[in-house]
Amino acid sequence: MHHFDYRDHQLYCEEVPVARIAEAVGTPFYLYSHATLARHFTVFKASFSGADPLICYSAKANSSQALLTLFRQWGSGLDIVSGGELHRGLKAGFDPRRIVYSGVGKRVDEIDAAIGADILAFNIESLDELTLIDARAGALNRRARVSMRVNPDVDPKTHPYISTGLKQNKFGIDIDTALEGYRQARRMANIDIVGVDCHLGSQITTVEPFEQALAGLKALLQALRGENIPVQYLDMGGGLGIAYHEETPPEPKAYARPILKALKGTGLRLILEPGRVIVGNAGILVTRVLYRKRAGDKKFVIVDAGMNDLIRPTLYRAYHAIEPVTRRPGETITADVVGPICESGDFLALERPMADAAPGDLLAVMSAGAYGFVMSSNYCSRTRAAEVLVAGERFDLIRRRETLDDLVAGEQVPAWLSA
Ligand code: LLP
Repeated sequence: MHHFDYRDHQLYCEEVPVARIAEAVGTPFYLYSHATLARHFTVFKASFSGADPLICYSAKANSSQALLTLFRQWGSGLDIVSGGELHRGLKAGFDPRRIVYSGVGKRVDEIDAAIGADILAFNIESLDELTLIDARAGALNRRARVSMRVNPDVDPKTHPYISTGLKQNKFGIDIDTALEGYRQARRMANIDIVGVDCHLGSQITTVEPFEQALAGLKALLQALRGENIPVQYLDMGGGLGIAYHEETPPEPKAYARPILKALKGTGLRLILEPGRVIVGNAGILVTRVLYRKRAGDKKFVIVDAGMNDLIRPTLYRAYHAIEPVTRRPGETITADVVGPICESGDFLALERPMADAAPGDLLAVMSAGAYGFVMSSNYCSRTRAAEVLVAGERFDLIRRRETLDDLVAGEQVPAWLSA
C-alpha cells in the first residue's frame, strides 16, 4: 500500500497535489512519501517480530541523506557496498555497529575506513578479500568482524542481471568451500567470525529460492557447530520483490515464515538487508510531456526524463506504470514514452496503452523509489533531477536539481592546453 492517490482527478502524494510540487521545483523530479516509507519499514520489521531482527536497510536502493536519516531514526542499520555508502551512512548518523559491508570488490582504502569505523561486519566474498582484511586490521592494530557471504547456488528466477546466488554469478563464496573459509578465518590473527551471510538476488517474487537457500545454510551452520566455530548472526540479505505491474510477490509475513522457522532454537540473531521492498513503491518520478509525434501507426510521447534519470526500463526492460498527474476524459493511445537522450534505448515504456497526453502534461512514473535516482547519470550533460520528500501536508526539497555549473565542477583543463 502506498500514499499516491487520486482526489478529484488530481494525483496526490499524501496531502499534497503532485502538480503543486512540479510548479515549485520544476521537472523531472523524484518524489518520496514519508508515510509510505514508514509503513513499509514497520510492516517489514513487524513480520519478523519475536526474532528482533537487525534490519540493515540496503543503501544502494536509495541513499538519499534524508531517507537514510529516517531509517536511522526508525532503528535501522545499514547494508553498504562501498566507501561512499559508508560515508553517507556515517553522515546520516548510523551507529557503525549496525553497518554491514557487502560487495565483491572492496578496495584497501574502503576496507581501512570500515575497520576504522568499527563496523558490525564485513560480508566476505572471497578468500583473497579475507586475507587482505586480516592484514589491514593487523596493520591498523584493530580487529575486524566477518561473515562469509555464501553463494548457495539457487535460482532466484529473476532478471539475470539481478540474480546473484547462482554458481556462475560473481557473488559470495561457493557453499562447499565456505567451510574451508571459516577454518582459515579462525586461524587468522585479527579476524573475529560473527556470522553467516547470503543474498540471492533482487526482485524475487516467490519464497522458494529463500527456502532452498535456508536448507543449504542450515547444513553449513551445523557443520560450523561440529567444528566448534561459533557464529552469532544469520544475515539473509535482501531481495524481496514488489509489484510493479502484475507480479504477486509474497507478503513480508510469508517471506518471514521459513526464515523464522530455520532460525528457531539456533540462538542466532537475524540480519536482513531489504532495499526495494522498503523504498520501491514509496517513490515516483514526475516528468513533463514535451512533444508528441507519429510515424505511421507508431506514436511517441516525448518527455523531459530520460534513461539518464531512470535506467531500469532500458537496462532490464523493467515495467514502470505511467499515470497522468491530472486525469482527463479522453482517448486511450498506445505509445512509446521516450526521453531526450540520443539513443534508441532511451525509453520509459514501449507500446504502452495510456491516456493520451499533450505537451505540458505531467506524467508520474510509478514505483521509482528504488534504483531510480541512485542509478541516474549526467549522460548527454543532463543535470540530475531534484528529489522531494512529502510528509503529510508538507513537502521539502531533499536534493536540489543540479546546475549547469555542477556539470563541470571538478573538471580542469591542463595549463598547456588553456594558453
Ligand atoms: N544486499 C545485497 C548484498 C545486495 O547486493 C542487494 C541488492 C540488497 C541487499 C538489496 O536487495 P533488494 O532488497 O533491494 O532486492 N539495480 C537493480 C537491482 C540491483 C540489486 C543489487 N543488490 C534494479 O534496478 O532492479
